[in-house]
Amino acid sequence: MDLVAGIDIGGTKTKIGLVNKDGKSINNTYFRTREFEDLDDYLDKVKDTVDKLVNDCEHEVNLLGCGVGAPNASSRTGCIENASNLAWKGRVPLVAKLKDRINLPIRVMNDANAAAMGEMLFGNAKGLEDFILLTLGTGLGSGIVANGQIIEGSGGLAGELGHVGLTVEEGRYTGVGVQGGLEAYVSATGLKRTILHMQSKYTEDSRFRDIAFNDLHGEDITKAAEEGDFIALKAFDYTAEILGMALANFTAFTQPEAIFLLGGLVNSGKWILDPLEKYFDQYLMEAYKGKVELKFSGLPPASAAICGAAALIWELDKKKLAM
Ligand code: BGC
Ligand code: NA
Repeated sequence: MDLVAGIDIGGTKTKIGLVNKDGKSINNTYFRTREFEDLDDYLDKVKDTVDKLVNDCEHEVNLLGCGVGAPNASSRTGCIENASNLAWKGRVPLVAKLKDRINLPIRVMNDANAAAMGEMLFGNAKGLEDFILLTLGTGLGSGIVANGQIIEGSGGLAGELGHVGLTVEEGRYTGVGVQGGLEAYVSATGLKRTILHMQSKYTEDSRFRDIAFNDLHGEDITKAAEEGDFIALKAFDYTAEILGMALANFTAFTQPEAIFLLGGLVNSGKWILDPLEKYFDQYLMEAYKGKVELKFSGLPPASAAICGAAALIWELDKKKLAM
């Protein structure tokens, strides 16, 4: 059976799965990225994990290649460039080093661009030529598709909407030092920082009064919103207004038909979506109104990233693995 290894390198977890041509993950696993500070040890672990998945598979596997999604990765250079959430600093020659271990076609791309590719091949963006996908997790990633192509820019690093700066008073910094960057507000970490901000701004009762940052968890914030917690509701409203305005701005760049949302923050469901729809519409230029849909991603939440990464190789396969 022809399969592709989809590899999603995240700050916390590295997820690896074998994916078929329909984007379905046959078997998958993960390990903690930070357990391997040394790049060579890490890549050995990646190779071992791929081998193990292939050996454990109940079918005979014909592995076609590895598609890798990573933060701040460029498909042009095959490198990760200064990712703030990873231990390896500077430029990491990922494709070259992985190729030394796995002698098959290897493609790397920004993780959110890869997810956008997955959405296009296997998810809700089938047949769409213009859309934006946002991954709302530890960081904020984005993939921008215009005229049927992922926008990669001159160096393969385009589509970093998490580092677009907003005019916010005393703006927070993103991991790579962009003041007022969207990611510092609209991400799992951003939401937690907003809870602390709301605590100091308002005096109302809240279960988050005097809580420490590290004791805050996304699920608790959603649960609190359900119970009508004042600070939780304020935090969602604040986050939604910032994201709604940002999405209205991004719409002005490429006029997408749809904007897809993926990742942890999406689990907050209507608490984020309802106010988001309201603010998005409020900030949208009149001519765009009613023409841009806000939707959840159609990729399976648990394996979206690996399906997206695998899509890089399936896409190549269509072009007969020209590598
Ligand atoms: C990185 C992006 C990445 C996103 C999600 C951001 O901090 O700059 O490249 O797509 O996190 O992982
Ligand atoms: Na991107």
